[in-house]
Amino acid sequence: MAENETRDFFITGLRNAHAMENQALSIMKPQLERIENYPEVAQKLQQHIQETEGQIDRLEQILQDLGEDHSALKDWALSFAGGMAAMGHTMAGDEIIKNSLANFAFENYEIAAYKSLLTIADAGGYVAATSGLRANLAEEQTMAAWLDENLAQVTTRFLSLKEADVTAKI
Ligand SMILES: [Fe+2]
Repeated sequence: MAENETRDFFITGLRNAHAMENQALSIMKPQLERIENYPEVAQKLQQHIQETEGQIDRLEQILQDLGEDHSALKDWALSFAGGMAAMGHTMAGDEIIKNSLANFAFENYEIAAYKSLLTIADAGGYVAATSGLRANLAEEQTMAAWLDENLAQVTTRFLSLKEADVTAKI
């Protein structure tokens, strides 16, 4: 692949990652607002929202270092779609379970995105970009691992709350 094609592909991938992280915020923030009975999930979501804001900053820095303007990103449509996806769960009694599965899927999607971007960075010799991408990847892997480990606990708590008939609130 020609050098400029690799660069275009890298820039597009970085912009998509930027949109992906804004989508992540629009999924996590409504979830956090609604959680009442799962304090450990709320705490972790709060932490990952802050991490995600840092990830967006890193991506913007990488784009800026490459001489790319990040203001014209097509994030809005994706953020809106993410918000709608989160809202779609609000009427369901098993919202916490559906959100746990969706978050697990989303974090693993993010992991794949950063692995792919790191491969492109290596191929194109974009050495300066790799530390930021690796930092983002590491945070996604930590979050995905936590969701994986916590799934049984959340599900067990959901079942016991359901038994106590407090499913009106998640
Ligand atoms: Fe994430």
